[in-house]
Amino acid sequence: MVSSQRSREEEGVKKVAVFGLGFVGLPLALSFAIRGCEVYGVDVNADLIAELNEGITHHLEHYHNTPIQKVLKDQLEAGRFKATTDAADALANCNNIIMTVGIPVVNGEHLFDHVESAARAIGKGLKPNDLVLVRSTLVPGMTQNYIRPILEKESGLKADDDFYLAYSSERIAEGKAFEEFENMPTLVSGVDRASRDRAMELLGIVTKADLVPCSSMEVVETAKVMENISRDVDIAMVNEFARFTKALGVDTFEVIRVANTHKRVKLLLPVPVLGGYCIPNALHYLTPKAEEMEVPLPLLRLARDINEHVPQFVVSMVTRNLPVLAKEAKVAVFGIAMKDFSNDDRLSPALQVIELLQTTGIKVAAFDPAVPTRHSFKVDSLQEALEGAHGIVVLAKQDGIDYNNFSLFNKYLSAAGQPFIVDTRNVYERKVVEAGGFILETL
Ligand SMILES: NC(=O)c1ccc[n+]([C@@H]2O[C@H](COP(=O)([O-])OP(=O)(O)OC[C@H]3O[C@@H](n4cnc5c(N)ncnc54)[C@H](O)[C@@H]3O)[C@@H](O)[C@H]2O)c1
Repeated sequence: MVSSQRSREEEGVKKVAVFGLGFVGLPLALSFAIRGCEVYGVDVNADLIAELNEGITHHLEHYHNTPIQKVLKDQLEAGRFKATTDAADALANCNNIIMTVGIPVVNGEHLFDHVESAARAIGKGLKPNDLVLVRSTLVPGMTQNYIRPILEKESGLKADDDFYLAYSSERIAEGKAFEEFENMPTLVSGVDRASRDRAMELLGIVTKADLVPCSSMEVVETAKVMENISRDVDIAMVNEFARFTKALGVDTFEVIRVANTHKRVKLLLPVPVLGGYCIPNALHYLTPKAEEMEVPLPLLRLARDINEHVPQFVVSMVTRNLPVLAKEAKVAVFGIAMKDFSNDDRLSPALQVIELLQTTGIKVAAFDPAVPTRHSFKVDSLQEALEGAHGIVVLAKQDGIDYNNFSLFNKYLSAAGQPFIVDTRNVYERKVVEAGGFILETL
């Protein structure tokens, strides 16, 4: 147990260091700052830090109706938030340390480098009575068996004796971060009860929803990965249903809508494939442990496989409607974000679809006003995307795209053949599209 002389931070103002200022870390850090904490945001990306300290971020979050850009500027001006690459300085000034760095998966292999380097940096500056609260999504068991030994080795301190160590999974969806930090029930556990209680006290500054105490950090880590995988499986199922309804000639979205009138049925909508950081990666966080324990996961692997093949299905809807050979064809893509109304294109299904279209020889011009990433196929306006294209592929909804401007479409699209729209986001009503002279393909 932690020694009783520990300070319970009676000084009033909590000092919080957040390691990793990405889609989770930045709005989380600002959520603490808004509520009066003094927050150091630490990241290894010096360009990101420079931008943040100038009040620049490309995220599309809102705190109530205030855009994150304004929240950031206000908190910088109030002196409650500071972004830095100097981990040692942040740790010297803070006794609540939150880790939000990720575990990227590259070619099916997870990379622990970020977690390892963040844990090392935190360990080096750790002081007695500090709280380390891990919020990254992890392979179950990692806080105890991977992060804890690094922290203890680097600091020379012992968790549950000299410092507090806890795990709380992060459940927010990008675009709803501020709201969900506040209102999403949150699971918490620690190496001991004191660590868990201290983490709950810290989390309670931002989270008004239930803080659910759990018996071990492994329970929380496992629940998080399973939550993500369950969505992967649910979506694989409806993607498969969608193929059936399409072959049958009935409207998939209508079938799902009416099936969901059953009180115990809750089908999700089909999507071109799950993108983003969390869901596609989740199975890869479970498999190392499952393999170690020789637990087969055939259903979960199949679901991932089905979802990974959906982009090919989207491409087949394009190619069968082309009035010319693929190598002479062009399509306009609307939206490349990993989900609707997001600026995040990491592991975006749109990028996979575009790559496959290009592999078949089709020229792609994609417009997405929200995603800042540079890509050779990206253009700056809807007109440029449409110019000479034979059809439109809708891969994400975004503000700033007029999806129903059929007169603009007709003005710029190629006159060859009948134009088509491949709608993977349930944007269109069939009769409207067909009245506009377009073929409509849906999942
Ligand atoms: N994005 C989401 O919607 C979401 C939702 C729930 C949970 N999560 C989980 O939260 C974690 C973070 O996700 P994210 O989307 O914010 O990732 P991100 O890639 O946007 O941000 C991670 C940040 O960590 C920084 N970083 C890497 N190594 C570092 C180090 N040693 N010290 C300090 N900073 C370092 C990176 O430069 C980057 O800015 C992941 O584990 C993810 O699975 C994400």
